[in-house]
Amino acid sequence: MPDSRYSDLDRPPLSAAALNRALVRPGSLWTGITVVDSTGSTNADLARSAKEGAPEGTVLVAEAQEAGRGRLGRVWSAPPRSGLTFSVLLRPDVPIAAQGWFSLLYGVAAASAVRRLAEVDVRLKWPNDLLIGERKLAGVLAERVDDAIVIGMGMNVTLRTEELPVETATSLGIEEAACIDRDPLLRAVLRELESHYRDWTEAKGDAEASGLRSAYLAASATIGQRVRVELPGQQAVTGQATGVDHYGHLQVEADGERYTLSAGDVVHVRPAG
Ligand code: BTN
Repeated sequence: MPDSRYSDLDRPPLSAAALNRALVRPGSLWTGITVVDSTGSTNADLARSAKEGAPEGTVLVAEAQEAGRGRLGRVWSAPPRSGLTFSVLLRPDVPIAAQGWFSLLYGVAAASAVRRLAEVDVRLKWPNDLLIGERKLAGVLAERVDDAIVIGMGMNVTLRTEELPVETATSLGIEEAACIDRDPLLRAVLRELESHYRDWTEAKGDAEASGLRSAYLAASATIGQRVRVELPGQQAVTGQATGVDHYGHLQVEADGERYTLSAGDVVHVRPAG
């Protein structure tokens, strides 16, 4: 039975029934959790659902993705059930100018959940990559669909060294984390996300008043570092990452100039010597 969902005992399937029982309750943000064996991309699927009027709090989890999307036009691929690949649909009632903070909020929530449950030192590379040391554990992709935001995460859980897509990636298994069970990890991420999202929306998207800015800075591996930011279109800026502005954009000081960057790939540059 090579294709059975139970053929790899290290990678048991998720139970939609158990997840719904635990997370979908009266008053909860989460309105329904679907688990599919395989799809193209959970972000693409939820973007379609968003257009068709799916409610806030819809969650779609895939045990495997055939065409997982990454940031900046990249792909996200992983063997079936080796990690968490899921998206959530939210319709934040906050001013559009503040919504840039949402993808940072997601990183803060996910890092906090993983740190607590898996007992690993997870930090954030701007905007929201989850790193252990300098290795990437998880990536997040936020996409706007009309008044909705679809945001998806790919996290490597039991991925083995020989399965890593790039040598700068890692997994909870490789890091000998205290938890490599996807069900409690997913619950923890969704619970933490709900709590941060409520604080932020109640503060009308104010990153200071909701405590989001200070939580982000505390979790950041980027701010205060020397960085090279590879910008869309082959340009790069190398300098000191000094902060995050009102829109969640990265501030970098380089050669006496201050740059504010809304997109790009950050590389943490170690000072010579
Ligand atoms: C990145 O680091 O480039 C972001 C990766 C995001 C991958 C996740 S997997 C679940 C969701 N569906 C997608 O197609 N992409 C995101």
